[in-house]
Amino acid sequence: MSTWIRPAHADDIDDIAQLNDAAFGQSAEGKIVRKLKRDGDSVLSLIAHDDSQIVGHVQFFRIQIDGAPLAVGLGPMSVLPGRQRQGVGSGLVRTGLLALEGAGESLVFVLGHADYYPRFGFSADTAAPFDAPWSGPHFMAKRLADSAPVAGTLTYPAAFGV
Ligand SMILES: CC(C)(COP(=O)(O)OP(=O)(O)OC[C@H]1O[C@@H](n2cnc3c(N)ncnc32)[C@H](O)[C@@H]1OP(=O)(O)O)[C@@H](O)C(=O)NCCC(=O)NCCS
Repeated sequence: MSTWIRPAHADDIDDIAQLNDAAFGQSAEGKIVRKLKRDGDSVLSLIAHDDSQIVGHVQFFRIQIDGAPLAVGLGPMSVLPGRQRQGVGSGLVRTGLLALEGAGESLVFVLGHADYYPRFGFSADTAAPFDAPWSGPHFMAKRLADSAPVAGTLTYPAAFGV
């Protein structure tokens, strides 16, 4: 069965929330996706679907650096439990990063599995100089352009409650 990636539509939001609930086993991430959209903080929302259903989702949102909209955050991201470890998540991340680069974005942060995101070029060293609500090996960044800021204070959207 083929799996396709496309931008999420407004009427996908209930399916996306359900998918996040199923992948994380709780409803916090689905609520974050809804709030990001409602607050206008979503930069890009991609879904993967097969012939019958949505099987994956990745959310990208705006992060301010020193008050300017210079970076993007990745998350939440989820793949349907029965479809994990089949490349769906990788396809979503790679497609999203390519689209962001094409749109002129230069820097992407993620707070996530330290043994998953480095395969896409994310590194804790790149994120470390930034003043953020998070630090350590799970807090990573990837530069998409030479013009990307190398340090500064990050402000996350209200949806994350930090
Ligand atoms: C994490 C997640 C999005 C990955 O999507 P996926 O489609 O399963 O991943 P892919 O098939 O593209 O990649 C599979 C690789 O990811 C690794 N992987 C999957 N889940 C992982 C996890 N929780 N921690 C570390 N690595 C993980 C697998 O080991 C596999 O590595 P390999 O190729 O070296 O064997 C998905 O497993 C998921 O939705 N998990 C539950 C929710 C979650 O944790 N979201 C991310 C929060 S940062």
